[in-house]
Amino acid sequence: MKNYMSSAALIFLLAASPAFGAEVPLYKDAKAAPAARAADLLGRMTVEEKFGQLQQLDGLWEGNYREEHLALAREGRLGSTLNVRTAPFANTLQKEAVERSRLGIPVLFAFDVIHGYRTIFPVPLGESAQWEPQLAEAAASAAAEEAYSVGLKWTFAPMVDIARDPRWGRIVEGSGEDAYLGSKLAAARVRGFQGADYGAPWKVMACAKHWVGYGAAEAGRDYNSTDISESALRNVYFPPFKAAVDAGVVTFMTAFNDLNGVPSTANKRNISGVLRGEWGFKGFVVSDYTSVKELILHGLAADGEDAAVKALSAGVDMEMVSTLYRETGPAALAAGKISQADLDASVLRVLELKFRAGIFENPYIDPALEAKTLKTPEKLALALNAALNSMVLLKNEGALLPLSPGIKKVAVIGALADSRADMLGSWSADGKPADAVTLLEGIRAVAPGASLVYSSGAFAGAADKDLDRAVAEAAKADVIIAAVGETFDLSGEAASRVSLALPGRQLELLERLKKTDKPVVAVVFNGRPLELGWLNDNLPAILEAWQPGTQGGLAVAQTLFGLANPGGKLPITFPRSVGQVPIYYGHRNTGRPPDAKEKYTSKYIDSSFEPLYPFGYGLSYSSFSFSGLEVSPAVIAPGGKAQVSFEIKNISRRAGSEVAQLYIRDEAGSETRPVRELKGFQRVTLAPGEARRLIFELGPEELGWYYAGGYAVEPGRFKIYAGNSSAGGLEGVLEVKP
Ligand code: BGC
Repeated sequence: MKNYMSSAALIFLLAASPAFGAEVPLYKDAKAAPAARAADLLGRMTVEEKFGQLQQLDGLWEGNYREEHLALAREGRLGSTLNVRTAPFANTLQKEAVERSRLGIPVLFAFDVIHGYRTIFPVPLGESAQWEPQLAEAAASAAAEEAYSVGLKWTFAPMVDIARDPRWGRIVEGSGEDAYLGSKLAAARVRGFQGADYGAPWKVMACAKHWVGYGAAEAGRDYNSTDISESALRNVYFPPFKAAVDAGVVTFMTAFNDLNGVPSTANKRNISGVLRGEWGFKGFVVSDYTSVKELILHGLAADGEDAAVKALSAGVDMEMVSTLYRETGPAALAAGKISQADLDASVLRVLELKFRAGIFENPYIDPALEAKTLKTPEKLALALNAALNSMVLLKNEGALLPLSPGIKKVAVIGALADSRADMLGSWSADGKPADAVTLLEGIRAVAPGASLVYSSGAFAGAADKDLDRAVAEAAKADVIIAAVGETFDLSGEAASRVSLALPGRQLELLERLKKTDKPVVAVVFNGRPLELGWLNDNLPAILEAWQPGTQGGLAVAQTLFGLANPGGKLPITFPRSVGQVPIYYGHRNTGRPPDAKEKYTSKYIDSSFEPLYPFGYGLSYSSFSFSGLEVSPAVIAPGGKAQVSFEIKNISRRAGSEVAQLYIRDEAGSETRPVRELKGFQRVTLAPGEARRLIFELGPEELGWYYAGGYAVEPGRFKIYAGNSSAGGLEGVLEVKP
């Protein structure tokens, strides 16, 4: 039967509904366009409510809100929080905003979900060693699901700062030194967090940070000032941010650093000019933690009001933790120091994203979701796979690795071999050390027949007797596995070091272990490149394991005993010594390139100029050959494209994966360019004897450069290199002719 209703009945129904006669605000209509809803809502807001929406406040570390948040939420003056999470806390605070405030605008809950929320994946630098953006995307997507299940709708990730100074502790949070690899990973992580629609369940808004140049902190000292040329900004530091914008990232975070005299949090040229103007970014920009207030200490702002005026006018929409917008904004607006247009534009941007994020319609989180979502078997399997793929084999003399699972006596030495917290890394959200598998446990699982002797050895504050015991135990074994490196708190924010040496007495321990004449395998856990020169010169095998996450110890053990074959590559150069820093493959050539035989060339008199391990380097239990490089056509016009192809073959008896890497070098032009620029890579898995021809395309996007006059592909010769690291490889030529 059709459901006809007479007009009289319709009028009766409408009149009986509470909305009849009263205004139904457009902003409450879920079907209306987000921009229209935001505009409608803006028109109803007081000045205080507007500034309130631009305020983000910090909850308590365990996830609770602070008492004062309740009143602010009720007054409609709390736009967002960071660190408030889980249903009991988030829903209680949300209720104040949604049901008790005048306009019912929900709070946006944010958190640093950097490499997992509860299931912890390898630290981002380690994840980057996979050279496999699809895996990074899958990890971000799993992290988004877990974050969503505890009421979060926004993560402060990905961190896409290029960094070339391992003294800087935050090098662990990014993708390393290269703009191309960093761009691919930035885009992948944004896609993983946000999916096709960040407003959908299980997805969160991503945040590209820290805009911009934070990784160039002078002397590697965190928060330090930066002085970066326009060429370096455009060609090195900007690209991963641009890739994040192109992948649809909806928020940006400004950085702490002073950049060429204008702190990033008040840098109008970069925020309003480049990001919004040139790139068309439509989302909103949040400051970093108290970085608006810090404009005073930088020496840019005279007082709190001046700081608020400068940040807001530069285009920073939301203020994290400091409260200057909220406290000084209304008076500054009245005095004409902040323009109504700037204020309204910022509020509109925040509101529109809140509408798009779906939190007006779904402000609360179902308390039952968390238990069903965190640390599921699928996520743990993903974390194991991620950790396995992030392993980088740095040395394997005489094919010592993989070890035979039938081996009788294994000594596992070093405190890091049995430390759960150190598997997780410095920014492990709500990851629990108790969840993590240690290396010792991993070895027990994969080599159950081996008799293990474990000794904690030489970490911080070790006494002579600890070292003696470790060495005595090790001397009885067939093989020694020495876990060395850094504890989780030695990298990350505010964890810069002047030394890249193994901390504590670890080197001394290794020296004594070597003297036992037993084969020593070093497993390195770390968040930054370390000085591994002694290890490289003296030990037969070294495995770089980073801080590999919840399943980390199992992944390392599976790799050591050959259940998995390592295939990761360094996303960053490993120097021989800290004195070489900054050292990176994509440097310019100088007029006197290093030449060991010539004194007056660019080198050191007390050290090699070469890195210990170059960018892109990493071994495998398999061996691969590269051959048959072809460039076709060999001559193209500046807007044209060429195909580069070459063959890669597994010439060993073991299946394994190799990362094929393609680099270019522009030999001459109106400005000098790096000696090599990565422009393509592919991780391929090949069966024994299997060969594959890989094809890469080089076009304007790969060949061009930001010159003083803008982006261009200049005519001339390009050298092409193809191989398995940034050093050596096959060579070819491509010519660009007008
Ligand atoms: C860090 C950011 C982080 C923020 C919120 C700051 O100290 O620099 O990366 O997102 O804190 O926790």
